[in-house]
Amino acid sequence: MIATDTGRCPLPIPIGWFQVLFASELEVGDAIPLRYFGQDLVAFRTESGVAKVVDAYCPHMGAHLGYGIRENAGKGPRVIGESLECPFHGWQWNGEGQCTHIPYANNPPPRVAKGESILGAWPVREINQQILVWYHPNGAAPDWEPEALAEASEDNAEWTAFDIHEWEIHAHMQEIGENGVDGAHFHFVHGTSDLPETALQEFDGHQRRGKFITRQPTPRGVVDGAIETCSYGTGLSVVRFTGIYDTILLANITPVEREISRAMYAFIQPSATSETLGKTVGKAIIANICQQMEEDQIIWQRKQYFERPLLCDGDGPFAKFRRWYSQFLVEPA
Ligand code: FES
Ligand SMILES: [Fe+2]
Repeated sequence: MIATDTGRCPLPIPIGWFQVLFASELEVGDAIPLRYFGQDLVAFRTESGVAKVVDAYCPHMGAHLGYGIRENAGKGPRVIGESLECPFHGWQWNGEGQCTHIPYANNPPPRVAKGESILGAWPVREINQQILVWYHPNGAAPDWEPEALAEASEDNAEWTAFDIHEWEIHAHMQEIGENGVDGAHFHFVHGTSDLPETALQEFDGHQRRGKFITRQPTPRGVVDGAIETCSYGTGLSVVRFTGIYDTILLANITPVEREISRAMYAFIQPSATSETLGKTVGKAIIANICQQMEEDQIIWQRKQYFERPLLCDGDGPFAKFRRWYSQFLVEPA
C-alpha cells in the first residue's frame, strides 16, 4: 500500500487541461479505466470515433464502467454506438452522461426520461495525438483552450512518430513544475558543466514561457544551444531543444492523487535525419532527458514543500512562478 497523501506538500490538485491518454491508446470501441485527480474515471471511444471520459461508477447500482464481463472479460465493457454499456445490468451511458438505454425498463426513471446528464461527464479535447480532460474540483467550465502544435500532428511527415516515456512520480505537481525555473539544480542534479543562463521567464495568463541558453560539451567542442519551454497551465508543456540536434518534447504531467503525478513525455525529432544522426545523437539526447527524470525523482519524491524557502539571488524566479501557479490552485468547495 502506497501512501497517497504524505503531507509533504499542502497544496490542492491544480485546475486545468491535463493529458489522460495518448490518442493511440484508445481505439474505436475501446473503454479503459483511469485513475486521475484522486478519482476513478473511464475513457471510451465511440463508434463515430469520438473520445469520451466519464466518472467510473454507474449511477444505477454503482458498478465500475471500465471492466467488461463474459466475452469482454479482461478488457473494457462494450461500446454500442455512442454509448458505453454497463457490465452489471446493461444500462447504456453516453459521453454526456445521459442514460441512452435501459434494456428491461418499461418506465425509465424520470431523470433518464428527461435526458438529464446523470453520470459525471468530463470536457474532453483530442489534440496533438493526446486525449485531454479539463479538471476543476467544483465543476467550473474551461476558461482557456489547449493549442494545436503543427509538428505534433499525426500527418506531419517532417517529424518522427512519438517516442513515449512515462513515469509515476510521488510528488505534488508544483514541486515538479518548479524544476522549470530552477537553473542551479541542472549542474548539481544533472551534472551539466555550467549553470544554464536564463534568457527568458515570462508569465502571461495561463501561459508561461522560459528559455535557458546551454553550452554543451561534445567530442567536437562546446555547442551553444537553447531549451525553450512553453507551458499551458500546469499540465501541458512544449519544450524545444536546439543546438546539437533539434528535439521537441511534449512534456505533460497529470495529477493522479494530490501527491502523485504522472509524467507523459512524447519526443519528436526531424524525420529527414532519423536514420542517420537521429540513431546516435538524437537517441542520446532523449536518453539524457529521461535520465534527468530519474535524477529529479530522487529529490522530488522525498523533498518537503516550504512556503518560504531560503532563496539567494542566483536562484530562479520562484516567487513569480508560485504566484503564476497559484491561479490554478483551487480548493474543493
Ligand atoms: S449498475 Fe450499471 S446497469 Fe446496473
Ligand atoms: Fe531536473
